[in-house]
Amino acid sequence: MAARKIIIDTDPGIDDTMAIFFALSSPELDVVGLTTIFGNVHTDVATANALRLLEIAGRTDIPVAKGTDQPLAGPFGGPVPYVHGEDGQGNLHLPPPNTQAVAEPAAQFIAEQVMTFPGEITLVPIGPLTNIALALRLEPRIADNVREVVLMGGNALAPGNATPAAEANIHNDPEAADVVFGAGWEVTMVGLDVTHKIVMRPDHLAAYSTASHPLAQHIARMLPCYRNFYADYHDLTGIFTHDPSAMAYLIDPTLFKTAQWPVRVETQGVGRGKTWPAVNDKRLLPPWQNRPPLNICVDVDVERTIRLILSRLG
Ligand code: RIB
Ligand code: CA
Repeated sequence: MAARKIIIDTDPGIDDTMAIFFALSSPELDVVGLTTIFGNVHTDVATANALRLLEIAGRTDIPVAKGTDQPLAGPFGGPVPYVHGEDGQGNLHLPPPNTQAVAEPAAQFIAEQVMTFPGEITLVPIGPLTNIALALRLEPRIADNVREVVLMGGNALAPGNATPAAEANIHNDPEAADVVFGAGWEVTMVGLDVTHKIVMRPDHLAAYSTASHPLAQHIARMLPCYRNFYADYHDLTGIFTHDPSAMAYLIDPTLFKTAQWPVRVETQGVGRGKTWPAVNDKRLLPPWQNRPPLNICVDVDVERTIRLILSRLG
Protein backbone atom coordinates (compact mmCIF):
# COMPACT_ATOMS: atom_id res chain seq x y z
CA MET A 1 0.00 0.00 0.00
CA ALA A 2 1.36 3.49 -0.87
CA ALA A 3 2.82 5.44 2.03
CA ARG A 4 0.48 8.06 3.50
CA LYS A 5 1.45 11.64 2.59
CA ILE A 6 1.68 13.83 5.68
CA ILE A 7 2.60 17.42 6.51
CA ILE A 8 3.78 17.79 10.11
CA ASP A 9 3.07 21.18 11.68
CA THR A 10 5.47 21.34 14.58
CA ASP A 11 7.08 23.36 17.40
CA PRO A 12 10.24 21.24 17.96
CA GLY A 13 10.48 20.57 20.92
CA ILE A 14 11.83 17.30 22.25
CA ASP A 15 8.72 15.17 21.81
CA ASP A 16 8.19 16.81 18.41
CA THR A 17 11.69 15.64 17.48
CA MET A 18 10.83 12.11 18.62
CA ALA A 19 7.66 12.26 16.50
CA ILE A 20 9.41 13.61 13.40
CA PHE A 21 12.16 10.96 13.59
CA PHE A 22 9.51 8.28 14.25
CA ALA A 23 7.64 9.39 11.10
CA LEU A 24 10.82 9.53 8.98
CA SER A 25 11.67 5.98 10.11
CA SER A 26 8.21 4.57 9.28
CA PRO A 27 7.60 3.23 5.76
CA GLU A 28 3.87 3.76 6.25
CA LEU A 29 4.38 7.53 6.19
CA ASP A 30 5.66 9.87 3.47
CA VAL A 31 6.61 13.20 5.07
CA VAL A 32 6.08 15.75 2.26
CA GLY A 33 6.80 18.80 4.39
CA LEU A 34 7.37 20.31 7.81
CA THR A 35 5.69 23.57 8.76
CA THR A 36 6.75 25.38 11.90
CA ILE A 37 4.90 27.15 14.66
CA PHE A 38 5.53 28.83 18.02
CA GLY A 39 4.82 26.85 21.17
CA ASN A 40 7.69 25.05 22.87
CA VAL A 41 9.95 27.68 21.28
CA HIS A 42 9.51 30.78 19.13
CA THR A 43 8.72 30.09 15.46
CA ASP A 44 12.20 31.10 14.25
CA VAL A 45 13.79 28.57 16.63
CA ALA A 46 11.24 25.94 15.61
CA THR A 47 12.19 26.57 11.98
CA ALA A 48 15.93 26.26 12.61
CA ASN A 49 15.30 23.06 14.56
CA ALA A 50 13.13 21.58 11.80
CA LEU A 51 15.92 22.27 9.29
CA ARG A 52 18.55 20.79 11.64
CA LEU A 53 16.50 17.64 12.21
CA LEU A 54 16.10 17.00 8.49
CA GLU A 55 19.86 17.49 8.03
CA ILE A 56 20.58 14.98 10.83
CA ALA A 57 18.16 12.56 9.17
CA GLY A 58 19.65 13.10 5.72
CA ARG A 59 16.27 14.25 4.44
CA THR A 60 16.94 17.79 3.22
CA ASP A 61 14.75 16.86 0.24
CA ILE A 62 11.79 17.58 2.53
CA PRO A 63 10.77 21.28 2.46
CA VAL A 64 10.35 23.35 5.62
CA ALA A 65 7.90 26.27 5.56
CA LYS A 66 8.07 28.83 8.36
CA GLY A 67 4.81 29.55 10.16
CA THR A 68 3.35 32.56 11.88
CA ASP A 69 4.81 34.10 15.02
CA GLN A 70 1.61 34.99 16.83
CA PRO A 71 -1.70 33.34 17.79
CA LEU A 72 -4.88 34.49 16.03
CA ALA A 73 -6.19 36.62 18.85
CA GLY A 74 -3.38 37.79 21.06
CA PRO A 75 0.25 37.64 22.05
CA PHE A 76 2.13 34.35 22.27
CA GLY A 77 2.44 33.28 25.90
CA GLY A 78 6.12 32.44 25.45
CA PRO A 79 8.34 29.37 25.12
CA VAL A 80 8.90 26.72 27.78
CA PRO A 81 12.70 26.37 28.19
CA TYR A 82 12.21 24.51 31.48
CA VAL A 83 10.58 21.70 29.47
CA HIS A 84 12.42 21.51 26.13
CA GLY A 85 15.56 23.60 26.82
CA GLU A 86 16.37 27.13 25.65
CA ASP A 87 16.97 25.76 22.16
CA GLY A 88 14.04 23.32 22.07
CA GLN A 89 16.60 20.50 21.76
CA GLY A 90 17.41 19.83 25.39
CA ASN A 91 20.10 22.56 25.50
CA LEU A 92 22.33 20.73 23.01
CA HIS A 93 22.98 24.11 21.36
CA LEU A 94 23.55 22.63 17.91
CA PRO A 95 25.28 24.65 15.17
CA PRO A 96 22.97 26.62 12.87
CA PRO A 97 21.38 24.68 10.00
CA ASN A 98 23.01 24.77 6.54
CA THR A 99 19.66 24.72 4.74
CA GLN A 100 16.89 27.29 4.55
CA ALA A 101 13.12 27.29 4.70
CA VAL A 102 11.16 27.68 1.47
CA ALA A 103 9.92 31.17 0.59
CA GLU A 104 6.22 30.58 1.06
CA PRO A 105 4.80 30.80 4.56
CA ALA A 106 3.39 27.71 6.22
CA ALA A 107 -0.29 28.49 5.58
CA GLN A 108 0.36 28.97 1.84
CA PHE A 109 2.51 25.82 1.68
CA ILE A 110 -0.23 23.77 3.35
CA ALA A 111 -2.95 25.16 1.06
CA GLU A 112 -0.86 24.59 -2.09
CA GLN A 113 0.10 21.03 -1.17
CA VAL A 114 -3.47 20.04 -0.25
CA MET A 115 -4.95 21.51 -3.44
CA THR A 116 -2.20 19.92 -5.54
CA PHE A 117 -2.89 16.48 -4.09
CA PRO A 118 -6.65 16.52 -3.38
CA GLY A 119 -7.70 13.81 -0.93
CA GLU A 120 -4.13 12.61 -0.35
CA ILE A 121 -2.59 14.87 2.30
CA THR A 122 -3.01 14.25 6.03
CA LEU A 123 -2.20 17.25 8.20
CA VAL A 124 -0.46 16.30 11.46
CA PRO A 125 -0.35 19.34 13.74
CA ILE A 126 1.67 18.63 16.91
CA GLY A 127 1.81 22.24 18.12
CA PRO A 128 -0.68 25.13 18.32
CA LEU A 129 -3.19 25.18 15.43
CA THR A 130 -2.61 28.71 14.16
CA ASN A 131 -1.06 27.73 10.80
CA ILE A 132 -3.91 25.30 10.14
CA ALA A 133 -6.53 27.97 10.86
CA LEU A 134 -4.68 30.45 8.63
CA ALA A 135 -4.50 27.88 5.82
CA LEU A 136 -8.29 27.44 6.09
CA ARG A 137 -8.74 31.21 5.94
CA LEU A 138 -6.42 31.42 2.89
CA GLU A 139 -8.03 28.48 1.04
CA PRO A 140 -11.34 27.26 2.58
CA ARG A 141 -11.51 24.43 0.03
CA ILE A 142 -8.79 22.54 1.91
CA ALA A 143 -11.54 21.43 4.31
CA ASP A 144 -12.95 19.32 1.45
CA ASN A 145 -9.60 18.24 0.02
CA VAL A 146 -7.59 17.15 3.07
CA ARG A 147 -7.61 13.41 3.73
CA GLU A 148 -7.65 13.91 7.51
CA VAL A 149 -6.29 16.08 10.32
CA VAL A 150 -4.61 13.98 13.04
CA LEU A 151 -3.46 16.28 15.81
CA MET A 152 -1.78 16.02 19.18
CA GLY A 153 -3.72 18.33 21.45
CA GLY A 154 -6.73 18.88 23.64
CA ASN A 155 -8.15 17.13 26.67
CA ALA A 156 -11.70 15.81 26.44
CA LEU A 157 -12.21 14.23 29.86
CA ALA A 158 -8.69 14.56 31.32
CA PRO A 159 -7.27 17.55 33.21
CA GLY A 160 -5.01 20.00 31.37
CA ASN A 161 -1.23 20.28 31.49
CA ALA A 162 -0.55 23.93 30.59
CA THR A 163 -3.22 24.89 33.13
CA PRO A 164 -5.56 22.76 35.21
CA ALA A 165 -8.09 23.35 32.41
CA ALA A 166 -6.15 23.28 29.15
CA GLU A 167 -3.62 21.29 27.12
CA ALA A 168 -0.61 23.31 25.93
CA ASN A 169 -1.16 23.25 22.15
CA ILE A 170 -4.77 24.38 22.46
CA HIS A 171 -3.97 26.82 25.26
CA ASN A 172 -1.44 28.54 22.98
CA ASP A 173 -4.20 29.41 20.48
CA PRO A 174 -7.76 28.50 21.54
CA GLU A 175 -9.37 30.59 18.79
CA ALA A 176 -7.42 28.70 16.11
CA ALA A 177 -8.40 25.36 17.63
CA ASP A 178 -12.09 26.27 17.67
CA VAL A 179 -11.87 27.15 13.96
CA VAL A 180 -10.09 23.88 13.13
CA PHE A 181 -12.56 21.80 15.17
CA GLY A 182 -15.52 23.39 13.36
CA ALA A 183 -14.30 23.25 9.74
CA GLY A 184 -16.15 20.05 8.87
CA TRP A 185 -13.10 18.02 7.80
CA GLU A 186 -12.22 14.70 9.41
CA VAL A 187 -10.30 15.41 12.62
CA THR A 188 -8.76 12.92 15.03
CA MET A 189 -7.75 14.39 18.40
CA VAL A 190 -4.90 12.56 20.13
CA GLY A 191 -5.04 14.41 23.43
CA LEU A 192 -4.08 14.12 27.05
CA ASP A 193 -6.85 11.54 27.59
CA VAL A 194 -4.42 9.06 26.01
CA THR A 195 -0.98 10.72 26.00
CA HIS A 196 -1.01 11.05 29.80
CA LYS A 197 -1.40 7.26 29.90
CA ILE A 198 1.62 6.58 27.67
CA VAL A 199 4.68 6.86 29.93
CA MET A 200 8.07 5.77 28.64
CA ARG A 201 9.96 4.51 31.69
CA PRO A 202 13.76 4.41 32.06
CA ASP A 203 13.92 0.85 30.71
CA HIS A 204 12.07 2.02 27.60
CA LEU A 205 14.23 5.14 27.25
CA ALA A 206 17.44 3.10 27.53
CA ALA A 207 16.68 1.78 24.04
CA TYR A 208 17.53 5.18 22.57
CA SER A 209 21.01 5.31 24.07
CA THR A 210 21.82 1.68 23.25
CA ALA A 211 20.64 2.02 19.64
CA SER A 212 23.37 2.85 17.12
CA HIS A 213 20.91 4.73 14.88
CA PRO A 214 21.96 8.43 14.64
CA LEU A 215 18.35 9.57 15.15
CA ALA A 216 18.10 7.49 18.31
CA GLN A 217 21.41 8.90 19.51
CA HIS A 218 20.17 12.47 18.98
CA ILE A 219 17.05 11.73 20.99
CA ALA A 220 19.13 10.09 23.74
CA ARG A 221 21.19 13.28 24.07
CA MET A 222 18.04 15.41 24.52
CA LEU A 223 16.27 13.11 26.98
CA PRO A 224 17.98 14.17 30.24
CA CYS A 225 16.48 17.68 29.93
CA TYR A 226 13.01 16.25 29.27
CA ARG A 227 13.25 13.63 32.05
CA ASN A 228 14.33 16.30 34.54
CA PHE A 229 11.22 18.33 33.74
CA TYR A 230 8.91 15.40 34.41
CA ALA A 231 10.77 14.46 37.57
CA ASP A 232 10.77 18.02 38.92
CA TYR A 233 7.26 19.10 37.90
CA HIS A 234 5.31 15.84 37.78
CA ASP A 235 7.21 13.52 40.15
CA LEU A 236 7.26 11.20 37.13
CA THR A 237 10.10 8.72 36.49
CA GLY A 238 9.97 8.74 32.71
CA ILE A 239 8.35 10.90 30.01
CA PHE A 240 4.98 11.31 28.34
CA THR A 241 5.13 10.59 24.59
CA HIS A 242 2.70 13.29 23.50
CA ASP A 243 3.66 13.92 19.86
CA PRO A 244 4.88 10.42 18.94
CA SER A 245 1.41 9.18 19.96
CA ALA A 246 -0.15 11.08 17.04
CA MET A 247 2.22 9.28 14.66
CA ALA A 248 1.39 5.95 16.32
CA TYR A 249 -2.29 6.62 15.61
CA LEU A 250 -1.51 7.26 11.94
CA ILE A 251 0.46 4.03 11.66
CA ASP A 252 -1.91 1.83 13.67
CA PRO A 253 -5.25 3.37 14.73
CA THR A 254 -6.23 0.05 16.36
CA LEU A 255 -3.95 1.02 19.24
CA PHE A 256 -6.58 3.55 20.31
CA LYS A 257 -10.21 3.54 21.40
CA THR A 258 -12.13 6.55 20.07
CA ALA A 259 -15.43 8.35 20.62
CA GLN A 260 -17.15 10.77 18.24
CA TRP A 261 -18.25 13.99 19.90
CA PRO A 262 -18.50 17.62 18.74
CA VAL A 263 -16.05 19.89 20.55
CA ARG A 264 -16.02 23.59 21.43
CA VAL A 265 -12.97 25.39 22.76
CA GLU A 266 -13.26 27.81 25.65
CA THR A 267 -11.65 31.16 24.84
CA GLN A 268 -12.38 33.25 27.93
CA GLY A 269 -11.50 33.18 31.63
CA VAL A 270 -9.63 30.63 33.68
CA GLY A 271 -10.80 27.81 31.39
CA ARG A 272 -9.22 29.37 28.29
CA GLY A 273 -8.02 26.57 26.01
CA LYS A 274 -10.23 23.84 27.49
CA THR A 275 -11.71 21.51 24.85
CA TRP A 276 -15.32 20.76 25.81
CA PRO A 277 -16.82 17.67 24.08
CA ALA A 278 -20.60 17.17 23.95
CA VAL A 279 -20.29 13.69 25.48
CA ASN A 280 -23.19 11.51 24.25
CA ASP A 281 -25.37 14.63 24.47
CA LYS A 282 -28.44 14.28 22.29
CA ARG A 283 -29.62 17.81 23.10
CA LEU A 284 -26.58 19.49 21.49
CA LEU A 285 -27.08 22.93 23.03
CA PRO A 286 -26.39 25.94 20.79
CA PRO A 287 -22.58 26.18 21.08
CA TRP A 288 -22.36 22.56 19.91
CA GLN A 289 -25.27 22.56 17.46
CA ASN A 290 -24.27 21.94 13.84
CA ARG A 291 -20.68 21.25 14.92
CA PRO A 292 -19.12 18.21 13.26
CA PRO A 293 -18.13 15.37 15.61
CA LEU A 294 -14.38 14.84 16.09
CA ASN A 295 -12.78 11.40 16.39
CA ILE A 296 -11.48 11.65 19.96
CA CYS A 297 -8.96 9.16 21.39
CA VAL A 298 -10.25 8.13 24.81
CA ASP A 299 -8.12 5.06 25.58
CA VAL A 300 -4.95 3.38 24.32
CA ASP A 301 -3.01 0.09 24.42
CA VAL A 302 0.02 1.59 26.17
CA GLU A 303 2.53 -1.25 25.83
CA ARG A 304 1.76 -1.89 22.16
CA THR A 305 2.10 1.84 21.43
CA ILE A 306 5.46 2.11 23.18
CA ARG A 307 6.65 -1.04 21.40
CA LEU A 308 5.68 0.46 18.04
CA ILE A 309 7.49 3.75 18.74
CA LEU A 310 10.66 1.99 19.93
CA SER A 311 10.59 -0.57 17.13
CA ARG A 312 11.38 2.17 14.62
CA LEU A 313 14.34 3.76 16.44
CA GLY A 314 15.28 1.73 19.46
O1 RIB B 1 0.74 19.21 25.58
C1 RIB B 1 1.80 18.59 24.88
C2 RIB B 1 2.06 19.29 23.59
O2 RIB B 1 2.56 20.62 23.84
C3 RIB B 1 3.16 18.61 22.76
O3 RIB B 1 2.90 18.84 21.40
C4 RIB B 1 4.40 19.32 23.17
O4 RIB B 1 5.42 19.27 22.18
C5 RIB B 1 3.89 20.72 23.32
O5 RIB B 1 3.86 21.30 22.02
CA1 CA C 1 4.67 19.77 20.00
